[in-house]
Amino acid sequence: MKGLVLSGGTGTRLQPFTWSTPKQLIPVANRPLLSFILWALQKVGIAQAGIITGDEGLERIPHKLEGQIPPALELTYIRQVGPLGLAHAVKTAHSFLGEDDFMMVLGDNIFDLSLGEAVAVFKQTGADALLFLTPVDDPQRYGIAEVRDGQILSLVEKPVTPRSNLAIMGIYLLSKAIFPAIDRTRPSARGELEITDALQELLNMGGKIVPYLYRGWWLDVGKPEDVLAANRKMLDLLLGTVPADNCSVGLSSSVTDSTLRGPLIIGEGCRITNAILGPYCAIGRGSVIENARIMESVVCEDVEICNLEAQLYKSIIAENARIQGQSEGGANVRLLLGAGSSIIL
Ligand code: TTP
Repeated sequence: MKGLVLSGGTGTRLQPFTWSTPKQLIPVANRPLLSFILWALQKVGIAQAGIITGDEGLERIPHKLEGQIPPALELTYIRQVGPLGLAHAVKTAHSFLGEDDFMMVLGDNIFDLSLGEAVAVFKQTGADALLFLTPVDDPQRYGIAEVRDGQILSLVEKPVTPRSNLAIMGIYLLSKAIFPAIDRTRPSARGELEITDALQELLNMGGKIVPYLYRGWWLDVGKPEDVLAANRKMLDLLLGTVPADNCSVGLSSSVTDSTLRGPLIIGEGCRITNAILGPYCAIGRGSVIENARIMESVVCEDVEICNLEAQLYKSIIAENARIQGQSEGGANVRLLLGAGSSIIL
């Protein structure tokens, strides 16, 4: 079985961050989002994975993944001409996938459980496809599966009147049977070749699609709130909740006259002076934080935050941004800054 990770797309909902960086590289607990998926693929025994990207991703992803991925996983980058839909991305990867079964994961998804049980179900049932499903409160936002007696009856992308609350997560087990189904699929009203429509075609063609109810935590990281939630969850998972034990400070970083409240991670080569950090902060490598208070935020690499009277909270600060405080006092501030931004508060 091969892996296929979809890391194209536009990331409109995460602008301005995504103007300079593909959203799959957004750091969660100081590691690129994408790296968690690649470790999950390796854990189920996948040795070869394709990464679908646009031009920006081709330039940036290989460099950012250095040292962050399982050494035994062989990666192939596959360029998608544009964000023309998930089924279009699968079609683009056809020659890489060949005749093999594959696990496809959307590059902006994060989850906590191993995917091994689902792989076993897929193999045992000899299905053409297996869909990871999870109940959601707002089914109009997702691809929705109608399931009865363990059978999938229909699949609809963002239904106006949903027939169930079971959302199709961004993890799929697929076989080569998906390719003729994609060939029969027409672009949707938003101009994309939708994977949900291709799977409905597969059902129409008599294909066997089995549902798999996922019981773990899962998040589709599309909006700033999702980035913060993913960061909180992964800091909890990686560092735990024991107060004396859940602050991780990178090599060659200095922390002077500061209070650290875990869970919290500080990358390598940071300088933290007279600051109160955490809980739920991830500070990227090479950042300087001086005379500032930050909580529940993602701060990327090489950021400078100095002399802030106000507390920074629930913020996402892209790499090389500078935040300087000049005025006294001020309420708490919440910022979403793109790379290289400079702001005086
Ligand atoms: P989406 O979140 O649906 O789309 P997006 O990344 O363009 O974000 P936004 O809606 O905010 O503009 O995409 C889900 C995942 O699939 C994401 O990792 C990007 C990837 N993708 C592709 O690789 N190719 C595509 O053609 C599309 C549409 C998405």
